[in-house]
Amino acid sequence: MTVAASQALSYRDAELYMEDVRLADIATALGTPSYVYSQAQIGENLAALQDAFAGVSHQIHYAVKANSNLAVLNLFKNLGCGFDIVSAGELTRVLAVGADASTVIFSGVGKSVAEIDFALKSGIGCFNVESAGELDRLASRASLLHCRAPISLRVNPNVDAQTHPYISTGLKQSKFGVPIEEALSLYTQAAKHKHLHIVGIDCHIGSQINQIEPLLQALTNMLDLVDCLADQGINLTQVDIGGGMGITYEQESPLDIAAYGSSVAQMMSGRSQTIMLEPGRSLIANAGVLLTRVEYLKPSHFDDAPNFAVVDAAMNDLIRPALYQAWHEVVPLVQSCSATKTDQLWDIVGPICESGDFLAKARNLVLEDRSLLAIASAGAYGMVQASNYNSRGRGCEVLVDGDSFQLVRRRETIDDQLRLEHFA
Ligand code: LLP
Repeated sequence: MTVAASQALSYRDAELYMEDVRLADIATALGTPSYVYSQAQIGENLAALQDAFAGVSHQIHYAVKANSNLAVLNLFKNLGCGFDIVSAGELTRVLAVGADASTVIFSGVGKSVAEIDFALKSGIGCFNVESAGELDRLASRASLLHCRAPISLRVNPNVDAQTHPYISTGLKQSKFGVPIEEALSLYTQAAKHKHLHIVGIDCHIGSQINQIEPLLQALTNMLDLVDCLADQGINLTQVDIGGGMGITYEQESPLDIAAYGSSVAQMMSGRSQTIMLEPGRSLIANAGVLLTRVEYLKPSHFDDAPNFAVVDAAMNDLIRPALYQAWHEVVPLVQSCSATKTDQLWDIVGPICESGDFLAKARNLVLEDRSLLAIASAGAYGMVQASNYNSRGRGCEVLVDGDSFQLVRRRETIDDQLRLEHFA
């Protein structure tokens, strides 16, 4: 196993542990598929980011979309984070764990009237506004509710984040943000509106970014605009550099957050603004695994066809491989040394009726019937993207802390699904 996946994972006597909990014990007690998260790893990831940005005044707003389990949100709240949300549902979640709405940033291209009203009434910290239409809507809702909406404009700096096209958001072809060239006139308009309160500028150019240069280029473009705005008498108090920091799934070098933090600190020296960050993946991806069990082994009898290990997790549990051709490390919970084992390449596939239902391809694993596996780096964009496709219930979620573990979301039953439906 690559150490990079998570410091919280280790083999002891051939058994995989998360912190001091044997993962096979969780699989036995709670079944599979199950998502399991390490509290210690989340804390370490956050501490590393805080250290990296220690040279600049900054605030970290955890991007709820990466993993919105209430126990995870509660943990981030207790560790002093604010939150970046993109829906009324996410706002409800962060309020449910007792977060102060003033520590919450509302991102997203499609905020509805109901969502805007809810956020305004809650006292949200900032709306990251993504279009002229949204700015208008926000102004009129704030005026109706007799309040002022705190805003940043999310600018689209037309910078290539050099990541998967589905998660690249900073190019002019993308639906996100206001073209940076149009931002000045929107700011001037907003400044005149008594129900809008300009607090900052924002940008998020994509996710799983492993090179610093595009991120710094985006910041450079934003700071040019900050200076132009200051010349017009519009002074910002915050500069939001988004999330997007890449991690190691396979062999890619993770984004060097220490270098990123010190470059940002250098660029901000002499400036009064606070840097806001909206990280999701880099805080939680490597803190989570998806546990699954082999249901059937289907070795191939042809040279040119793969061996399949059909497991009980599927694309409805973890869609990243099917959707982005994402690579996740797969490791056994128990390193077997029995004589019956085979040693060959396996495609790890789920029970769903689609050929795109795979979790990993061509993995050199020693598998037996009923083997338990962990799919690594699954803490971010795993459970949150799970669905009920094929009427499968979503798995449970578990939080590990030292030598204990706690169920933080129970496994869904078929009754959970049927409850919402009716027939004549
Ligand atoms: N801020 C905004 C406005 C975002 O859209 C996102 C992610 C983040 C922050 C957090 O980015 P992060 O630090 O996690 O990279 N489902 C995809 C990832 C989609 C990311 C969407 N936006 C995946 O599984 O890779």
